[in-house]
Amino acid sequence: MKFGGTSVATLPRWQNIRELVASRRAEGARVLVVVSALTGITDALKQMCAQEDKGKRVEAARAIAQRHYDLLDHMQLAVPATLAERLSELAMLAEDGPGAMGELAWAALVQAHGELMSSALGAAFLSHAGLPTEWLDARDCLAAVALPNQNERTKLLSAMVEARPDPALNARLAELGEVFITQGFIAREAQGRTVLLGRGGSDTSASYFGALLKAQRVEIWTDVAGMFTANPRQVPGARLLQRLDYEEAQEIASTGAKVLHPRCLSPLREPRVPMLIKDTNRPELEGTVIGPEVREHAPSVKAISARKGITLVSMESVGMWQQVGFLADVFAQFKQHGLSVDLIGSAETNVTVSLDPTENLLDSDAIAALASDLAKVCRVKVIAPCAAITLVGRGMRSMLHTLSGVLAEFGQIRVHLISQSSNNLNLTFVVDENVVDDLLPHLHELLIAAGALRTDDSALFGPSWQALYGSGEVAAPAASWWRTAERERLLRLGAERTPRYVYHLPTVRQQARELKSLGAVDRLHYAVKANTHPAILKALAEEGFGFECVSPGELKAVLAAVPESAPLLFTPNFAPRADYEWALTTRATISLDALYQLENWGELFRGREIVLRVDLGRGLGHHEKVRTGGSGSKFGLPVELVDSFLRLADAHGVIVRGLHAHLGSGILDEGHWGEVYGQLASLAERIGSVAFLDIGGGLGVPSHPGEARLDIAALDRVLRSVKAAYPHYQLWMEPGRYLVADAGVLLARVTQQKGKGSWRYLGVDTGMNSLIRPALYEAWHEIVNLTRLDEPATGLFQVVGPICESGDVLGTDRRLPEAQEGDVVLVAQAGAYGKVMSSPYNMRDEAEEVILD
Ligand code: LLP
Repeated sequence: MKFGGTSVATLPRWQNIRELVASRRAEGARVLVVVSALTGITDALKQMCAQEDKGKRVEAARAIAQRHYDLLDHMQLAVPATLAERLSELAMLAEDGPGAMGELAWAALVQAHGELMSSALGAAFLSHAGLPTEWLDARDCLAAVALPNQNERTKLLSAMVEARPDPALNARLAELGEVFITQGFIAREAQGRTVLLGRGGSDTSASYFGALLKAQRVEIWTDVAGMFTANPRQVPGARLLQRLDYEEAQEIASTGAKVLHPRCLSPLREPRVPMLIKDTNRPELEGTVIGPEVREHAPSVKAISARKGITLVSMESVGMWQQVGFLADVFAQFKQHGLSVDLIGSAETNVTVSLDPTENLLDSDAIAALASDLAKVCRVKVIAPCAAITLVGRGMRSMLHTLSGVLAEFGQIRVHLISQSSNNLNLTFVVDENVVDDLLPHLHELLIAAGALRTDDSALFGPSWQALYGSGEVAAPAASWWRTAERERLLRLGAERTPRYVYHLPTVRQQARELKSLGAVDRLHYAVKANTHPAILKALAEEGFGFECVSPGELKAVLAAVPESAPLLFTPNFAPRADYEWALTTRATISLDALYQLENWGELFRGREIVLRVDLGRGLGHHEKVRTGGSGSKFGLPVELVDSFLRLADAHGVIVRGLHAHLGSGILDEGHWGEVYGQLASLAERIGSVAFLDIGGGLGVPSHPGEARLDIAALDRVLRSVKAAYPHYQLWMEPGRYLVADAGVLLARVTQQKGKGSWRYLGVDTGMNSLIRPALYEAWHEIVNLTRLDEPATGLFQVVGPICESGDVLGTDRRLPEAQEGDVVLVAQAGAYGKVMSSPYNMRDEAEEVILD
């Protein structure tokens, strides 16, 4: 168990350590505690070393001693002999100065006293507090090894230890006792001199000891519960990583995470000793376990990190294509200047590399000197300041297909270099430094939304930093009616018959009321294509909604279910003339979205007021198939044709009363509707006859755990601010999904299971015939075994249906309990675009619909 400087600096912290050690003892474990120096002491010792004046050195040593006396006082303990010895040795070192020992060896020995003293003090405290504790000199156990290219400084101040399991040490300790305390940061080299371990020192010591003793585990106790999916200071929604393998953890540590120094993991790899990171103040939190690779996890991006202060050096070979030895020539210069290269991109005539400031002393002189030497062999360009954004995850290259949405984000900015690590663990983008702070939280969100960062796998991903340490304002969990109050009823319904869609009307009403709180919106229409069940249509009519329909069938369904007073919109696309003719016999307001309709059927619309649907040139949404803007999509009249449309309208006595735009479905950015609103309003100013603007639907509902919900109050603020500029237009909206998605679930029953290699398939009695969204859009729906909701989810399954298509998959890589034939499985968020998109394919029974009210 390793404790850092702040964890050993006060009495309460030591009491805490005592409790933690005692709890491990209670589990039957023998404990070795590794400690750092009290906070501030290492710095004080360094300052003492830099002091030429003997008097001042002696004075500094006295002040350092006093810190330890004060803490002992507080503990009501006498000065233990081990500590007294250290203190007098330190006083002597201060008195004597480096002398014959040499500056560096003396400095190492002086600084080692921080840990020697804190551990001596700790041994006294723990023994006094009822845990007899043996003080162990780490230098007797950790032998520093000589490495090639080591100078005196690195040998003494940044040493390395080769730690192999040492049964003799184990046996020796077994005779001595049950609890031990030793020092982090220090070791001894072949000549017997004390050496320091350099950066990451105490954690690395803990790992060395873990390896030497082949410990059950190494616990790093610190001020945070572990490693996160991103730096929580930049991304408060970053999730705790509960399980990592050594390589992943090392990669995350190397690319920016500060919790661990990357070098402290390698000693544990070979002896396969797991490391656990824990929060000293919140020991109940799970923490991060780092261990050997575990195969049965869903492939996932584990973290996104950013390193700033990166310098890129681009080297162009001058006119010598594929010149032999070019790389050797340029890299020789980096060696010469003592600079270590991080990322590399290469072409026939160009090599671009990055220099990381954490590995290099990068000042402008060092770079200038390098550049001038490089200029002798090539044309040099230095690009700085840059930042490296890295996605980390085992098997990165097999996840590329999940990253399209994330990569699209890089379309807006300059990317200087892309590099994928040859160990297949990371993918790095080097961009300008100034874009990183805004970009990172956004990328993190996109990774979750794209299902690339599999936050649904609760074995891997824990709570967000915000939930653990923030103000407690966490987005409300998605509708959970089926998890709690209605679970029993759903089990009965599922046992009776499957497949079945079940809709929860209170949730529909709740969503409707939330949208009605949008004060800026004058009229809400429900886009009935999402779900045409009559009970839902009735409930929304009662809430005062109008209805948006796209076919005569939808219009008829609505007319049959809702009162005469409910406003209707008819917004078809590429519909036949007869549809318009029929719709004109109803009270629906009709929208046109092409020149064709007026050019060819103009007389139909003579004297009518219509809505013009325009294409604002771009689409948005959860998948490219639901984006309805731009020339790649068939919807709307391009803005440049609006004048032609107006001339045609004039010619046929048609009045453009409304403007309409709908850019896509599943949008989670509140700003989007403000932009559409503003664009439609300024277009309306040109037209004159317009009275209302319909900014479409598309309000998204987060599907992946950890994705943020739309902030309806924020949306209202966005809309109000546009309305303030254009108060003379009514504002209309037409959401579908938002109202019904969470209100519906699909129930199915387990039919059979199959294993294939490392893959496990869980079959249920319906699939893409009932719910096509996963097959069509790779949409993510939460899937649970409702029969075994409380059982631990131990297996990783592909949840598939009985349809003869490889695409018949309802969910990939789902962590679920072991299932039995007949178990009721629930597919969540199936209230929107579920039943309405189902088909009789393979002549399988259609899912029945049940209403809960
Ligand atoms: N208005 C118009 C003109 C639309 O075309 C749509 C949806 C909506 C409103 C409602 O969009 P919502 O609020 O539901 O996102 N089947 C896809 C969604 C396709 C949406 C088609 N149009 C899915 O399951 O995600």
